[in-house]
Amino acid sequence: MSKVTIDIPADFILGAAASAWQTEGWHGKKAGQDSYLDAWYQHDRHVWHNGYGPAVATDFINRYREDVALMKACGLTHYRTSINWSRFLLDYETAEVDEEYARYYDNLLDEMEANGIEPMLCLEHYELPATLLEKYGGWGAKKVVDLFVRYAEKALARYAHRVKRWFVFNEPIVVQTRVYLDALRWPYQQCTATWMQWNHHKNLATARVVALFRAGGWPGSIGTILNPEVTWPRSGAPHDRYAAEMYDLFYNRVFLDPAIKGEYPPALLQLLAQHQVAWEYSDEDLALIAAHRVDEVGLNLYYPHRVKAPSRAWHTETPFHPTYYYEPFELPGRRMNPSRGWEIQPRIVADIACRMRDEYDNFPWFIAENGMGIENEARFRNAQGEIQDDYRIDFIAEHLYEALLARQAGINCRGYMLWAFTDNVSPMNAFKNRYGLIEIDLENQRQRRMKKSAHWFRQLRDSRQLTLTLDDQPR
Ligand code: BG6
Repeated sequence: MSKVTIDIPADFILGAAASAWQTEGWHGKKAGQDSYLDAWYQHDRHVWHNGYGPAVATDFINRYREDVALMKACGLTHYRTSINWSRFLLDYETAEVDEEYARYYDNLLDEMEANGIEPMLCLEHYELPATLLEKYGGWGAKKVVDLFVRYAEKALARYAHRVKRWFVFNEPIVVQTRVYLDALRWPYQQCTATWMQWNHHKNLATARVVALFRAGGWPGSIGTILNPEVTWPRSGAPHDRYAAEMYDLFYNRVFLDPAIKGEYPPALLQLLAQHQVAWEYSDEDLALIAAHRVDEVGLNLYYPHRVKAPSRAWHTETPFHPTYYYEPFELPGRRMNPSRGWEIQPRIVADIACRMRDEYDNFPWFIAENGMGIENEARFRNAQGEIQDDYRIDFIAEHLYEALLARQAGINCRGYMLWAFTDNVSPMNAFKNRYGLIEIDLENQRQRRMKKSAHWFRQLRDSRQLTLTLDDQPR
């Protein structure tokens, strides 16, 4: 074991993230302002851990002043959240702004400014208005792309003079993968074409919002936040490597390439045609995507995804699904976070860093989310009541170290943001796994308490140095 210290560059982001729906709660929400998540929770509350969901969340909408003070206490340089599209407007067709909700954002931004926390805003973090799902089939319809652009126009007009970093989506692949590809979430459908249609319309929406942002001449930058799952083959055998390449095409490059390179990988288009996945796109759409690429990407990195070549034949009557080309692989002895069931392997950061340098021309990026959700954290409380989350400190340190090494090597990594600032509501898991630097005590009126990691994060910011102990395994 050896102790190492590495400098954190002065302009390197040390922040934390959250989203509107996972924190705000429904206080002040008007009839007709449900998001897709709200509708799912209303239909299927029983699948949410302990029946808890977005209804109160952390009550951030009422407690943001207290929370901004805590952001400062933790030493955050940046805080990222979303604007909840379903609440920002009173009418999604005319884009009439809900003044009450918009004023809350004015106040939140004032508070952050007064405390020296730089805001980052995302225009969509799964907050598709429920009525647009019912009426048009959500992102399956081009009409919804138009309505999103109208919403973006209003949000930018209101805040872009003061918010310098914008993001079109957070993890644009997630909702349709769970709903339409794997039928794991309400309204539980399986249709690969619908999945791809949503992917495409979100890529198109990204390009159109980038165009809008540039036309507005706003001072900041416009990016998007993606969740490429670093995908490793079981072995170096050609069939396993092919499985990993296929996974990468269908789940990672489907968003990375349009956002950064302005085009779909030709191999992906060819596979979708070969498997007769009937999605619609036009030359005009592709031209828009080519012409309007993002300024930077935030990457959400949690765990490596391991795959192997499929071990069974595809049933001829089974509709096409990307698992045609791969099967998940579980490496025996892998280091796990058992609460979330995700492997821990900080090498994913080095891996994606090299990829951004080599395959994406050293494009600017930062870790937009990375973190560790732990069940029943109260068991780690000390006599003074503070959660001693040393496992989180180690997790952050190991991943941040990889990011800083990449930066030292000339890779364009601009920062590290933790998921999450406070404990908050996860889809379905609700408050089961706690991610925050700040505890939300549900037993005591959602009282906020700094965890040990919050103090540690603060000294990271103050010293601009990371010290950690590494095992002496070859890296
Ligand atoms: C990311 C999302 O996928 O991971 C967050 O952007 C989410 O919204 C976070 O909460 C952690 O995952 P989970 O499923 O444990 O909430």
